[in-house]
Amino acid sequence: PVVACVLAGGIGSRLYPASRSDRPKQFLPLADGQSLLSRTIDRTAFADERYVLTRDSFADEIREHAPEAGVLVEPAGKDTGPALVYAAWRLRDRFDEEPVLICLPSDHHVADDAAFAARLERAAAVAAETEGLVTLGVEPTRPATGYGYIVPDGDSDERALEDGDDCVPVDRFTEKPDRETATRLVDAGAYWNAGIFAWSPSAVLREARDSPLAPLVDALEAGEPERGFDAVDAVSVDYAIMERATDVYVTPLSVGWDDLGIWDAVGRVRAADDADNEAVAGEVLSLEAADNVIAAPDAHVSLIEVEDLIVAAYDDRILVAPREASQRVRDVVDRLRERE
Ligand code: GDD
Ligand code: MG
Repeated sequence: PVVACVLAGGIGSRLYPASRSDRPKQFLPLADGQSLLSRTIDRTAFADERYVLTRDSFADEIREHAPEAGVLVEPAGKDTGPALVYAAWRLRDRFDEEPVLICLPSDHHVADDAAFAARLERAAAVAAETEGLVTLGVEPTRPATGYGYIVPDGDSDERALEDGDDCVPVDRFTEKPDRETATRLVDAGAYWNAGIFAWSPSAVLREARDSPLAPLVDALEAGEPERGFDAVDAVSVDYAIMERATDVYVTPLSVGWDDLGIWDAVGRVRAADDADNEAVAGEVLSLEAADNVIAAPDAHVSLIEVEDLIVAAYDDRILVAPREASQRVRDVVDRLRERE
């Protein structure tokens, strides 16, 4: 069986002030009025079963956004590494045959759902055949620093699979490089990591045993998930497992993909209005202002001669920043939390 595991336990601090700790990004109606989570669930209809992985405090709201899916609640919010190891452990023995898990974030934009489903089914088949970790690679269009990079193994003339060469072994995986390294990786023909993985539970547990998440795996095998989560630090699956795993494959994903986790991207997938601004929410009056992302559902925003800004206003909170600083919005949330 193919089982979709949708990650929806993050807060989405880079979309502050739309996202707040009790209103994380996956519940925001950023997919043409639909929540990102419910769009993600719609996209996984090809799977035999679907689960949403999350923390306790989001579980009830998840059931509302995704009634078709089961909910797996992690003992603690420790980022995607522990979450995905826990899901593998929970689902490994659930079926007569070992399943393939398709693990995917809930903050993505996808233009072509049918092509997307076909690529994920292909990735699942490769995972079953190779017993490796399968990533989906997106052709990069700029040296983005917010993504992982996948360098395919160029020297390997021995293709991994017999029935096609649309999947190749990975030489190395680099999570969120600095600008200079990202430029080098793009020039060297690396893919962006779409953040979507296909693997069997045994394959990811095997790789996790050789990672900082080893204490979690040991505790899970002993039937003690809470102790396991206490024993490890918060870490994303990309740093904890993908950067050091040895048996990794990449298959291309070309379906009109974007990660909507930052304001710049939310603006990018939105058509510009008459004045060339990307209004996500709210009314805008623009006097020679262009390429700004405006998200202010309850406000009327006037802009004069400014470009490439984020202007976001939710409740009593306002954020103004250059679009290129989109990744840094997280720092604002960290700073605010320190003050509390
Ligand atoms: N269950 C659970 N528990 N989910 C979590 C947790 C957690 O503790 N923390 C984050 N998530 C969820 C988020 O809700 C989101 O859907 C998904 O995991 C990915 O987290 P992001 O914070 O959006 O990751 P990212 O965008 O910075 O980076 C990842 O995705 C990129 C592509 O979109 C990495 O995999 C990059 O390598 C990749 O390029
Ligand atoms: Mg993301």
